[in-house]
Amino acid sequence: MSRSGKVTVVGAGFYGSTTALRLAEYDIFETVVLTDIVEGKPEGLALDINQSRSVEGFETKVIGATTTAEGGGYEKTANSDVVVITAGLPRKPGMSRMDLIGVNAGIVRGVAENIAKHSPNAVIIVVSNPLDEMTALAQIATNFPKNRVMGQAGMLDTARFTNFVAEKVGVAVSAVATLTLGSHGETMVPVPSRCTVNGKPLADILKADEIAELVDRTRNGGAEIVGLLKTGSAYYAPSAAAARMAKAVIEDSKAVMPVCAWVDGQYGISGVYLGVEAMIGKSGVVKVVETDLTADELASLKVAAEAVRAKQADVLTL
Ligand code: NAI
Ligand code: 2OP
Repeated sequence: MSRSGKVTVVGAGFYGSTTALRLAEYDIFETVVLTDIVEGKPEGLALDINQSRSVEGFETKVIGATTTAEGGGYEKTANSDVVVITAGLPRKPGMSRMDLIGVNAGIVRGVAENIAKHSPNAVIIVVSNPLDEMTALAQIATNFPKNRVMGQAGMLDTARFTNFVAEKVGVAVSAVATLTLGSHGETMVPVPSRCTVNGKPLADILKADEIAELVDRTRNGGAEIVGLLKTGSAYYAPSAAAARMAKAVIEDSKAVMPVCAWVDGQYGISGVYLGVEAMIGKSGVVKVVETDLTADELASLKVAAEAVRAKQADVLTL
């Protein structure tokens, strides 16, 4: 089997370490680099993952690197093809993702500047929250073309929606197709008109109030897990989503998936990072793919765009 490319995961917390493990287990990358500012943590986790290779049967090498805010240690990330930024605080019960904006903006800006210096051709996948705003900030801090900076949220929110529908209807998750667009926050836009079970419209299977309940649970999917965990937020489904995006980039797969991408005219919306479906390849976002929406869904997407636009303007000053 041929392996190629280098992916760096910045932040070796729950999200970063599970993402690094998934990427290594794909066995498609030459190297996975895992970094953190906590001395020894990324090296220890890398060693642990490498020691699982003979059991799980993969050869990708994981390298741990302790970094500093000033850029120390970043040489180990040099010339990465893909960089996943997970550095930043997660929320606690009662907090919104937006409550993290001040502290995470400082972290993401510093990380993005160091990445731009050492991996000027990388595709960046941001996951730190608040997601849409941190994605915009990473693009500003790197000054990379907008297609080379995207955020992970839509795949996660869609996966949650799919899981809820499958459980409600009592079918395999593979029988269900769902979609969420918009922001990774209050203005998330689950899209029931695009949901099917075994190819049948969801509206033919569930009553409107049942669908509304699932939409609501999807919108609050992250908070539900934060409330149960009491400390920290979800990472198994989130890391699965970010890892799939990195895989699509390195394989130049042109897969269409919901991501946070720069929107430039699609849906009548311009000049904002927003959750939309996009084709993903070696250059990052190859193109935003528009889908048919009902009038209500389109109106909600426009509301989401304006809410995110207002907050993304704030990150310029953070
Ligand atoms: P965590 O607290 O387990 O890990 C964060 C890690 O970042 C820590 O190990 C910390 O030392 C590290 N870090 C802080 N500053 C750094 C820097 N300058 N350089 C390198 N590493 C640095 O948190 P977790 O669960 O891993 O979550 C990470 C972020 O992902 C949070 O902001 C969280 O809200 C977000 N998240 C986003 C999701 C999404 O769908 N976009 C889903 C789940 C979490
Ligand atoms: C999530 O949706 C907290 O953004 C994180 O799980």
